[in-house]
Amino acid sequence: MYKYTDYLDTYGRIMQFNKNKTVPFHRWYPFVEGYSREFIQSILNEIGKKDLVCLEPFSGSGTTALELQNSGIDCFSFEVNPLMYLVARVKLENRYSTECVNSWLDFININRSTVDVVDLTSEFQTLYQSEGKEKWNYNIEVATAVQKLHYAIKNISDELYQELFTVALAAILLDVSNLYRNGKCLSYKKEWKERKLTETEVFEKFDQKVRSELIVDIQNALCRSKVDNKQKLFNLDSRTGIDEKIEDNSIDLVITSPPYLNSRDYTDTYMLELKTLGFTRNCEEIRHLREQTLRSHVQIKWEDKACIDNEFLRETLDNLEIAAKAAGSWNDSIIDMVRLYFVDMQQIFKAMYKKLKEGGRCYFNVSNSAYFNELINTLEICSSIAEKEGYTVREIRKARNLKTSPQQKKSIGSLLEGVIVLEK
Ligand SMILES: C[S@@+](CC[C@H](N)C(=O)[O-])C[C@H]1O[C@@H](n2cnc3c(N)ncnc32)[C@H](O)[C@@H]1O
Repeated sequence: MYKYTDYLDTYGRIMQFNKNKTVPFHRWYPFVEGYSREFIQSILNEIGKKDLVCLEPFSGSGTTALELQNSGIDCFSFEVNPLMYLVARVKLENRYSTECVNSWLDFININRSTVDVVDLTSEFQTLYQSEGKEKWNYNIEVATAVQKLHYAIKNISDELYQELFTVALAAILLDVSNLYRNGKCLSYKKEWKERKLTETEVFEKFDQKVRSELIVDIQNALCRSKVDNKQKLFNLDSRTGIDEKIEDNSIDLVITSPPYLNSRDYTDTYMLELKTLGFTRNCEEIRHLREQTLRSHVQIKWEDKACIDNEFLRETLDNLEIAAKAAGSWNDSIIDMVRLYFVDMQQIFKAMYKKLKEGGRCYFNVSNSAYFNELINTLEICSSIAEKEGYTVREIRKARNLKTSPQQKKSIGSLLEGVIVLEK
């Protein structure tokens, strides 16, 4: 029913954040779930003009807003996770000087060594090593070094640099901890109990991050863009934030990638940084953050009974229910998540439509999913929701074929990731 176009060759290489890991500023924080700057450039080349106002409802680490800023284009963006919001803010800042970074780094190095006692009590049981625990995210030496750095950074009186160094610290936490990102969750590294990093080694890793990336990039950026997308970045839930902050009929272009319907909870994926740096101080705050995220995971029980009027979705939900029963699952949380994910999608499409100018375009990067061996054709369900909201679906671009879980592989094969191109 929709026109599919083959972009597997072009997009296959550029839909991963990996390519950003050597690019100045983009590389400051090792994000996983983003696309590369080249994806943004490919859209700009295709549109062929730069006099644009853009919108990014799911900023993540800020790839879209940063690349647009570097190209001299305004972009409003929204991000609900306070860590990702800070990462994007810091990368979008135009006013750093290498002199200040160097002198604040000296300040940190002096201040961290003046801390005698570090408080390693935490609401989170497994965060720090202590007597009687079986598992812990940081060994005592590492935890002590991290907290000394954090303490010194909090004492920086200039907020600009306090934020910059917090991101540098956030960027090394996973590496110095006993954990690694294992797809959707955090797992313990092999032989983590034998791994004994010293305080000095942690300080060196932090120093290395600042000197080899932050200072180098700031030094080489002779003149950064005059556009300031930091002022247009909001730490808000885009489902309501877009309407609150953006003028109607003012947006030329939306480029975005929402959380996929794959049960990944971004609060979980970045939990180590959120807990260590005090973004979330207890379980209540974690829950609160989860409640604000798009309903693409089952980490909380969603009580909302809402559903949208969409035949394609209805059919998918019916098939899913039958498949779940056949698989012996009486747990409705997956089906609730699928239903509510599309309620959220409708809200986003509605909000974006109101803000787009006539003829404005939206590039929406998302992928299909599968549960209980049933395919959820997210690309087509989203397209049909968007169509009902008034958009013209220009095409669905095939970007990549993603691996499914071993259980789904036999019946589903791979999952198509694509870019839906919409026009108002
Ligand atoms: C796939 S990532 C975006 C990646 C981004 N394109 C990049 O390259 O960094 C999706 C982001 O949406 C955020 N998010 C989830 N629910 C949200 C909401 N209701 N409002 C705003 N952001 C949300 C997540 O925290 C996550 O950072």
